[in-house]
Order: sequence, then structure tokens, then C-alpha cells
Amino acid sequence: MKSKKKRVWGGLTPDNKGNFKIIKVQSGRIRKVGGKDYPFISGEFEALIDDNCEIGEGTKIWHFSHILSNSKIGKNCNIGQNVAIGPNVIIGNNCKIQNNVSVFEGVTLEDDVFCGPSMVFTNVINPRSFISRKNEIKKTLVKSGATIGANSVIICGVIIGRYSFIGAGSVVTKDVIDHSLVYGNPSSFKYFVCSCGYKIELKIKDIIHNILYGKCISCEKDFKLENGKLIEEFKPIIIGVGKGRKNDKEFSNR
Ligand SMILES: CC(C)(COP(=O)(O)OP(=O)(O)OC[C@H]1O[C@@H](n2cnc3c(N)ncnc32)[C@H](O)[C@@H]1OP(=O)(O)O)[C@@H](O)C(=O)NCCC(=O)NCCS
Ligand SMILES: [Zn+2]
Repeated sequence: MKSKKKRVWGGLTPDNKGNFKIIKVQSGRIRKVGGKDYPFISGEFEALIDDNCEIGEGTKIWHFSHILSNSKIGKNCNIGQNVAIGPNVIIGNNCKIQNNVSVFEGVTLEDDVFCGPSMVFTNVINPRSFISRKNEIKKTLVKSGATIGANSVIICGVIIGRYSFIGAGSVVTKDVIDHSLVYGNPSSFKYFVCSCGYKIELKIKDIIHNILYGKCISCEKDFKLENGKLIEEFKPIIIGVGKGRKNDKEFSNR
């Protein structure tokens, strides 16, 4: 028997706080809410948005994607083709989720997270087809600004640090610290990266206090590494600023 193509359309509706909620519109017809028609998210597409989801303004969801119930996606995100999100997943603003990614229950993405094409999250550590482990979901948190390279696998239960970078094809089995670049199977630390995605060269050493200072090789932002923690946008203290200079305040704020 031939199947008939059935289209499911999604639209946006603003709530009273200026946020947008999704409305599910079936068979290509716009459902009227409060007597009004609502615009499509990204022109013509075939995507399924379940009940009780919230989608921020400016977010685009492309064809063959499915947002499962009670999921919340922030503003200006780009959700690619064949992406599944949810149920009960929270995604921040400005995230890019490339084609073929599933963001399962238990995964949380903060703002500005990049999920490369076909990367894989997991949420059960020891699944068996014949044993239900629905109540054994392990949480994964991806912090702001992190990039996950194409085809990587994230073993559940880890925290992926702010502005960290996971090379393509990695298998991440442990927490990834802020600003670190890791790759391989199992992935391991290679070097530190700036929020712009380029390497930070830590060169100058304060042996007495065990601190390393350095710069991003691209945007030249300053960093220091102290007690294993990278501090971003660190500005060197400038000693001997004369009295009454207009920009004294600027220096004292550093
Ligand atoms: C990790 C990454 C940022 C490059 O880092 P880099 O330090 O510039 O890497 P280089 O090209 O100088 O390679 C350094 C070494 O690491 C290896 N390497 C680089 N990336 C690797 C990866 N993802 N996995 C395993 N090894 C890798 C290189 O083969 C090279 O090995 P060698 O020293 O034995 O020759 C990059 O390779 C990467 O994986 N980017 C992600 C791309 C992506 O997924 N984009 C998705 C959207 S299109
Ligand atoms: Zn930089």
C-alpha cells in the first residue's frame, strides 16, 4: 500500500512576556490561536513539535526534526535537519545543533553551544533492550560557548566546560574543563583555547606563585592559569599610574 505524505507544520506564537511558544499545526494548515494566524519558523518545513514546548524568538527548526514534549529552546538557535530534542530538555540561546543530532532527556545545553553534525549524546550508561532504565538517566551538562566536533560521542554523566572544544570523532568519558581542547578516544586534554576558538599560548611563568600567563594566538585576549584554573580576560596590573589621570578608574577596575 502506498503511504500518503503527511506534513506537520510548526508556528510561533508570542506569549505575554514576549517569548514565543510553539503551536502545532497539522496537514499544512495554520491553526488559529486567538483568532490570529502565526508565522512559520523557517519557511516551509516538515517538523514535529510536541505539546508544551517553548521556542525562543528567532529560532529556526529545519525539516525532519522533532521537538519532544516539555522541551524549552532559547532564542536565535539553529536546529538542523533530522534533529531530535527532548523530552524535557533545556537549551539556551544562540545554540547551533547540526544535522542528525539527538539531544536526549538528561542533556542540558547552556547558551552558545555548537553541536557538530552527527555527534551523539547518551543518557543511559548500561542500556539493555530488555530492561527498562528510564529511571536511570544520567545527566550531561554542556556549558556556555562549548563546541562539540562532528561525530563525537559524549558518555553521559559529564560536564563539558565553558568554551571547551571537543575535536571531531572524540569519545568523551570524563568532565572537560573550561577552555580546554580535547580529542581522541578516550579524549584527553591537548591545550587551552580562547572563547574565539583559537589556541591560548601560555608562555610567561611566575615560578614563585606557580602561575602561567599567556594570550590567544588570534584575538590576543589575555589569560592566566592559576591552580589549574584558566582565568579569561585577565588584564595585567599596571603599576605607577599617575595621580589625576582620566583613565585611573579604568585601571583600578581591572
Ligand atoms: C581539534 C581540531 C580543532 C584541530 O586541532 P589542531 O591542534 O589545529 O590540530 P592539527 O591539525 O594541528 O593536528 C595536530 C595533531 O592532532 C591530530 N588531530 C587533530 N584533530 C584530531 C581529532 N579530532 N582527533 C584525533 N586526532 C586529531 C592531527 O592528526 C595531528 O596529529 P600529528 O601531530 O600526529 O600529525 C580539529 O582537528 C577538529 O577536530 N575540529 C573540529 C571540526 C568539526 O567537527 N567541525 C564541525 C562542523 S563542520
Ligand atoms: Zn581569541
